[in-house]
Amino acid sequence: MGAYRQAYERSMHDPEGFWRDAATAIDWVMPPGEILDRSAAPLYRWFPDARLNTCHNALDRHVDAGRGDQPALIHDSPVTGVLRTYSYRELRDEVALFAGALRRLGVGVGDRVVLYMAMVPQTVVAMLACARLGAVHSVVFGGFGARELAARIDDARPTVIVATSCGVEPGRIVAYQPMLDAALAEATHVPAHVVVLQRPQGPAELVRDTDLTWDDALLGAVPAECVPVAATDPLYILYTSGTTGRPKGVVRDNGGHAVALRWSMEAVFATGPGDVFWAASDVGWVVGHSYIVYAPLLTGATTVLYEGKPVGTPDAGAFWRVAAQHGVTTMFTAPTAIRAVKKEDPDGKLAEGYDLSRLRLLFLAGERLDPETYAWAGRLLGVPVIDNWWQTETGWPIAASPRGLETLPTKPGSPSVPVPGFRVRVVDGTGADVPPGEEGSIVLGLPLPPGCLPTLWGDDERYVSSYLSAFPGTYLTGDGGHFDTDGYLYVMGRTDDVINVAGHRLSTGAMEEVLAAHPAVAECAVIGVLDPLKGQVPRGFVVLKAGADVDPAELVALVRDRIGPVAALRRVDVVKGLPKTRSGKILRRTMRGIADGRTEPVPSTIDDPAVLDRLRPVLSDRGHDDHHRRRP
Ligand code: COA
Ligand code: AMP
Repeated sequence: MGAYRQAYERSMHDPEGFWRDAATAIDWVMPPGEILDRSAAPLYRWFPDARLNTCHNALDRHVDAGRGDQPALIHDSPVTGVLRTYSYRELRDEVALFAGALRRLGVGVGDRVVLYMAMVPQTVVAMLACARLGAVHSVVFGGFGARELAARIDDARPTVIVATSCGVEPGRIVAYQPMLDAALAEATHVPAHVVVLQRPQGPAELVRDTDLTWDDALLGAVPAECVPVAATDPLYILYTSGTTGRPKGVVRDNGGHAVALRWSMEAVFATGPGDVFWAASDVGWVVGHSYIVYAPLLTGATTVLYEGKPVGTPDAGAFWRVAAQHGVTTMFTAPTAIRAVKKEDPDGKLAEGYDLSRLRLLFLAGERLDPETYAWAGRLLGVPVIDNWWQTETGWPIAASPRGLETLPTKPGSPSVPVPGFRVRVVDGTGADVPPGEEGSIVLGLPLPPGCLPTLWGDDERYVSSYLSAFPGTYLTGDGGHFDTDGYLYVMGRTDDVINVAGHRLSTGAMEEVLAAHPAVAECAVIGVLDPLKGQVPRGFVVLKAGADVDPAELVALVRDRIGPVAALRRVDVVKGLPKTRSGKILRRTMRGIADGRTEPVPSTIDDPAVLDRLRPVLSDRGHDDHHRRRP
């Protein structure tokens, strides 16, 4: 039996033994006695009696072990021209000082801190400072607007919000302060303080008495020590899009998270202490949490924090420049980013001048990896390309070729095999397993391994109803797909109304709520349609109230303003009617099929087939970038 199969079988038959062994890689204040608490099933808790501090494991421990001078974090920012390296010692000292500053502002164990920050080292410092205090951070992606931010503030109820004054996008400065002010005006919760990191590219004007700058917060602060917490205490909340407009607060605990990420770094990513790991993502997403910040630092590796794009900063050779300059050994990004590079530099000429000899592996995740992109990247870099499938909820890969365990053959279009710890099944509508080759819902047998969400923030009930109720004893991933006869998994897409735009997970429900709130709109639908670069892009369809009129451009702007530019809704069509079932449900799946060019059968449940017929030409019109259309 190969090493992968052996590890997988053990993780299934003896999960407690498997994870007890993995837990020895972590420094505990109180090592785990009990490994898994099953008493409140279907809610499970890993390492229920253990205590640790995640920041200690990410920083202090490595300094104490002699890695103090090794680079911990390299901030490479082509959009601001900044390049700065922090050693483990420097990063620990900055984190300890900012933790002291947060403590002085009233932040203690269990308190929440919302971070609305750009890709700067202080974001990582703030995350780890929270971890140091046993506080709970909740990072909000900078591309989200006021509505999304307000929803997160009201759910997390932070003691303090830390924001950067601005983000820097190619060609424009994104001022965060107006969005923060609008969100605070909209939210009912009032934080005790807002700390603003002033960036020279766009400083903010502090408006509330309780606001202070990052520098002022640090003045006279006393470095804070690591506060031990229970392994089951929350480390962070990361909100993610569900089918409704209300984001889900995915909770990550301290102990299971540290154990799982540390294990994944060696077993899946084949990366160890001293290696240079670069996840070209954003700290606002789960990939950023797990593989820019926590996993590389828990491992004693060097992480690269890249504030730039795959193209345009300054060109499509940017990724190869960064990888060569910092001696990156393992790289991780989204297929969209590779497609963007390929589009601008199809022959990969811009990679030619760079020495990429240290690069061993390229990992791609966040959306389906199409075989063409997989093949192109492999040809260009001459290293294995590893598709891996996971989601915010799991925090680390569910399916991948576990390169640290064994070199398994890869297959284009498949993220390979279930990672040890994950009992992956493909089931039909009754919950029965379907044979290889047949499509179904992908579910995970309970308990989920360490590192996955133990619940949703303050809402066990919603966790159970959203994820654990469809097929008892399993976790519903929301993805559909199939296994082949070799046990390789193929993930074909979401089975719900969540869409994936340029590797960003977005809710069509949230966009619909914004459109529906416009006084001229009677009803609306937002669907995700195929896009060659971004995988999917949203398209909106609105029916107006009798006698009402609106410029679709206004609706596009409204979504951009409320949800944020990352929503990337560029086209809204005004239509006469939306196809519905006789019970009034909008036939979004049928609309999506037609928009994607598939021959969609007319559902037998349709109320008025003429409405669908009238909509067909609008749906089939693929001018996505025409911004907005009016069909009287
Ligand atoms: N702050 C503010 N605005 C942001 C932002 C941020 N952090 N991130 C993105 N935006 C804005 C962009 O500027 C853009 O604005 P625009 O409409 O004015 O042009 C909009 O949100 C849409 O962004 P995006 O979907 O990223 O498209 P893009 O055209 O700017 O870039 C790619 C396209 C492919 C280069 C880019 O999407 C990319 O690098 N994708 C990889 C995604 C990724 O790493 N995902 C993480 C999972 S691994
Ligand atoms: P997020 O929670 O933002 O990480 O998005 C998770 C979703 O992205 C999953 O549920 C999938 O729909 C999709 N996804 C992520 N990685 C892959 C992959 N390798 N292949 C197919 N889909 C993926």
